[in-house]
Amino acid sequence: MTYREAHFVGVAALWAEAFPNDPPWNRADEAIPEKLARQPDLLLVADDGGRVVGTVMAGYDGHRGWLYSLAVEAKRQREGIGTLLLKEAEARLAALGCRKINLQIRGGNDAVAAFYLRHGYGLEERISLGKRIGAD
Ligand SMILES: CC(C)(COP(=O)(O)OP(=O)(O)OC[C@H]1O[C@@H](n2cnc3c(N)ncnc32)[C@H](O)[C@@H]1OP(=O)(O)O)[C@@H](O)C(=O)NCCC(=O)NCCS
Repeated sequence: MTYREAHFVGVAALWAEAFPNDPPWNRADEAIPEKLARQPDLLLVADDGGRVVGTVMAGYDGHRGWLYSLAVEAKRQREGIGTLLLKEAEARLAALGCRKINLQIRGGNDAVAAFYLRHGYGLEERISLGKRIGAD
């Protein structure tokens, strides 16, 4: 379902568990307000009776769609929750006219790579570059 304010604490806890080494700008208190200001319908949560057990964030810039922060609570993995989140994010991107989705995963994360390969994603030979601009 689409993220609501009531999910904040649960999302922050899940991201801290799933992405413990992420930089500060990826943390919920920075990333969620930024997302809600632009494409609020592309921040999704799996809500199990009020408990956040999964998330995914998508973005569409008019050219490509991107996926970020797909995560499922460790003790709820391999129940199909990640697949449901991925399918919903793909459907919402497609509804916006997106025809190609890109995503990055950290090197060595073979289990996550296997998950995406199973869902039709292909490994593409690219060098991934990034640059921080503006003040942190
Ligand atoms: C990737 C992730 C979201 C998958 O969520 P999930 O709810 O477990 O996924 P599903 O139950 O829909 O699909 C499970 C499939 O994913 C793959 N998979 C997921 N976790 C795996 C693991 N630890 N080892 C091997 N394969 C795994 C397998 O193909 C598995 O299928 P199987 O159970 O039939 O073998 C979840 O593993 C996760 O949160 N990982 C940590 C966070 C992360 O690194 N996210 C990616 C950032 S881009």
